[in-house]
Amino acid sequence: MKLGIVTGIPGVGKTTILNTIKEILSKENSKFLIMNYGDYMLKTAMEMKYVSNRDEMRKLPLNVQRQLQLEAAKNIYKDASSLGDGLSFLDTHAVVRTPGGYLPGLPKHIVEILQPQVIFLIESDPELILKRQENDKTRARTDYSDPAVIKETMDFARYSAMASAVLVGASVKVVKNVEGDPSIAAHQIIKSLV
Ligand code: AP5
Repeated sequence: MKLGIVTGIPGVGKTTILNTIKEILSKENSKFLIMNYGDYMLKTAMEMKYVSNRDEMRKLPLNVQRQLQLEAAKNIYKDASSLGDGLSFLDTHAVVRTPGGYLPGLPKHIVEILQPQVIFLIESDPELILKRQENDKTRARTDYSDPAVIKETMDFARYSAMASAVLVGASVKVVKNVEGDPSIAAHQIIKSLV
């Protein structure tokens, strides 16, 4: 199993980059799987009637978020390992900014289940992230709408990604999501994981 964990703060463009990876690898007829941690968590959270949309999850009590996080990790590992030698990508967060403080997205018991090869940190200038959030009216990301908060979250994400990587011997790679061309980041990610 080859797993790349793709992290970045909400609105930086992780999902857009992963959609581009999907297009590239589909054209090459490669075996791959793209998973979204939030989707796995949301499925359980909605079944349990904890939330009605994904942006409410990071405001849940921390013990509930941890429970959802663990359940998701087990299911993600099961799906990734059933792919065999193909490339798996997981769209998630190195840290989640919650009212109770920064919650590590990949704490010891989670990253040890997932066993990634590379943890990617997608980054862009805070001002560009804000602009992308403003243009995307489908989501509620106002808790990340201040450049100072975005900068602080990006710093915490770097510390957190490296701390997680140390536990499993993964590498950490910072990848810029260049305005107007997410394919640059997509190619870098594929090249780093193959
Ligand atoms: P998640 O599903 O990851 O949602 P998110 O964090 O809100 O991220 P998005 O998918 O909305 O943003 P994105 O960065 O992918 O940006 P997008 O591609 O849409 O997580 C949901 C929730 O799940 C979390 O809040 C948390 O509660 C929970 N969760 C997840 N993982 C967890 C974990 N490990 N532990 C605990 N909880 C966890 O792009 C945004 C906009 O920018 C779009 O309009 C797009 O068109 C535009 N854009 C993108 N790239 C470019 C570019 N290069 N140039 C111009 N525009 C661009």
